[in-house]
Amino acid sequence: EEPAAALAVPQAGDPALMLLGRVGVVDPASLDDYRAHGGYTALRRAFAIGPAGVIREVTDAGLVGRGGAAFPTGRKWQATASQPDHPHYLVCNADESEPGTFKDRVVMEGDPYALVEAMTIAAYAVGAHKGYLYLRGEYPRALRRMEHAIGQARARGLLGDDVLGQGYAFDIEIRRGAGAYICGEETALFNSIEGYRGEPRSKPPFPVEKGLFGKPTAENNVETLVNVLPILTLGAPAYAAIGTGASTGPKLFCVSGSVERPGIYELPFGATLGELLDLAGVRERLRAVLLGGAAGGFVRPDELDIPLTFEGTRAAGTTLGSGVVLAFDDTVPLPRLLLRIAEFFRDESCGQCVPCRVGTVRQEEALHRIVERTGADAAADITLLREVGRAMKDASICGLGQTAWNAVESAIDRLGAYE
Ligand code: NAI
Ligand code: SF4
Repeated sequence: EEPAAALAVPQAGDPALMLLGRVGVVDPASLDDYRAHGGYTALRRAFAIGPAGVIREVTDAGLVGRGGAAFPTGRKWQATASQPDHPHYLVCNADESEPGTFKDRVVMEGDPYALVEAMTIAAYAVGAHKGYLYLRGEYPRALRRMEHAIGQARARGLLGDDVLGQGYAFDIEIRRGAGAYICGEETALFNSIEGYRGEPRSKPPFPVEKGLFGKPTAENNVETLVNVLPILTLGAPAYAAIGTGASTGPKLFCVSGSVERPGIYELPFGATLGELLDLAGVRERLRAVLLGGAAGGFVRPDELDIPLTFEGTRAAGTTLGSGVVLAFDDTVPLPRLLLRIAEFFRDESCGQCVPCRVGTVRQEEALHRIVERTGADAAADITLLREVGRAMKDASICGLGQTAWNAVESAIDRLGAYE
């Protein structure tokens, strides 16, 4: 096993970090080491305050989903817990595939027991006795470490029929993805676990009501879940005091591209994009920053005062997404980059609905004509791109088709990509 310190965490070892504090410090193969660094105090508190108490803490803390959509976690858990239909399931979405996103990987590789503990707390809160960890197939080291951690937790009575001797039964099964980006969409993920094609279902009904195997399911991202540990150990008021009123707590940012120190950074919500890029060491001649990954949007170098919060990025007409920050200097050929993004969406569309299946192909074709200068009229192709983009946004079933035009649109409107 490679040491965790090899992970891309420029701040590794800083004890002030709430989510990454153990990454690169604890032995990811040692349950005893995890416990020596505060592990399993949050689960003990969860048992002390009961499922309703856990949901109240998570709600009061203001925790929202870190996978990209920022849905209130307490509301999701309350809705799942209150369903009369049984069994209830917990699903951890670790199919992290957004280009430029690698935060969940770092958590699973560097602090795997934290996720086991957090999943146990979430399951207890929503009344689930079975949890699935849907793990990206291209993360073999995370798989090994999570398998080991789950096995050790089971052997030591922290999973199984009687967790911590509290009479509560819970266990985790790992399912591996097989390389399809769309299987990170929660309902496609359920289909994949159930053995069907990874195609999204129409929502509503939402998973809290009809999710995995048609049963009430709480589906949460890895980073969302591990936030529950500091919420329970610090208490909701202390956690909610971090960040801004609408975006509370710490956030992991995945910084890559034209920077000196790429990696995962943990900052409280509210730091500006410029402050984050200063930490990462932006190389000279910054041309653009892509926020939120391929489904996100570009911002210009004169917009680095954007606060890194859900509300701040929204107000600036862009998105925080799952915390991707991709920096590009002026050596990066922007039109080719956009073409690459369009290829990605065309490749990853599941093909179930027409606007996305056809739209992603038309988008790529138009960008190809512009880049290769084979079209008669670039302006006409940009008009076509706008029409196709609007149709995809308005009429696609899931987020993939709805966001497949975001990056291209922002490159045209904010960066003047083809002027
Ligand atoms: P969404 O807004 O449809 O749903 C977010 C969550 O809230 C889901 O779990 C949904 O079930 C739940 N929800 C929404 N309304 C609800 C209601 N009324 N009652 C109960 N539950 C409700 O967004 P979606 O499609 O799940 O995620 C889109 C985001 O995923 C994008 O913002 C994108 O940034 C991100 N994404 C992240 C990736 C990654 O690798 N982390 C990859 C691709 C996209
Ligand atoms: Fe599939 Fe695209 Fe439709 Fe989503 S929007 S269901 S990925 S075809």
